[in-house]
Amino acid sequence: ADLLTIAIDGPAASGKGTLARRIAAHYGLHHLDTGLTYRGVARALLASGQPLDDVAVAEAAARALDLAGLDRGVLSAHGIGEAASKVAVMPTVRAILVDKQRTFAATPPGAVLDGRDIGTVVCPKADVKLYVIATPEVRATRRWREIEANGGDADYAGILADIKRRDERDTARAASPLRPAEDAHLLDTSEMDIETAFRAAKAIIDERL
Ligand code: C5P
Repeated sequence: ADLLTIAIDGPAASGKGTLARRIAAHYGLHHLDTGLTYRGVARALLASGQPLDDVAVAEAAARALDLAGLDRGVLSAHGIGEAASKVAVMPTVRAILVDKQRTFAATPPGAVLDGRDIGTVVCPKADVKLYVIATPEVRATRRWREIEANGGDADYAGILADIKRRDERDTARAASPLRPAEDAHLLDTSEMDIETAFRAAKAIIDERL
């Protein structure tokens, strides 16, 4: 088919989201931040006061989720990422969301999807796979700057602890743990700004297309 799929995976605050948006714009592809789908489920449960560990309730919220209605502003709120990583351990919830993510990826001319399991589970046949990493300290610093730039009052130690806890939960879980696909290209952005990371990613993609 004439579909182009680019898979971008990596840990929390690795810069994969910013990179995915830039790549999608550059190649004229759709973009889906799959973290927002897990956040959407978590937010629906939190908003209605329902528990985060009830599988049947989480499945219903996942089924009801409309990808077109995901609000990045609302869903990026502190606390939702942590809650999202709790609902993300449920295999049946993942199956429902992965189904929606694949439908999204199948819309011409194709898409850039970013998350934790795109190259391994959601789109194992993606044309190009990138695995974006950066040290926990660099990622915490980026998140800290982002919050401060938006007028917030950020706590570096708390952010770093949150990132390490989320890394642990995402890599240790049984269902689709965070790990690079065998054919993924590793991109360490610890010492790169956004522009440099984008150019490095573009070089990898252009070589494969
Ligand atoms: O990327 P983001 O921080 O928004 O993701 C929130 C949480 O959703 C992650 O910590 C992870 O547990 C889960 N997630 C996932 N698989 C994906 C995307 C996100 O398990 N493809």
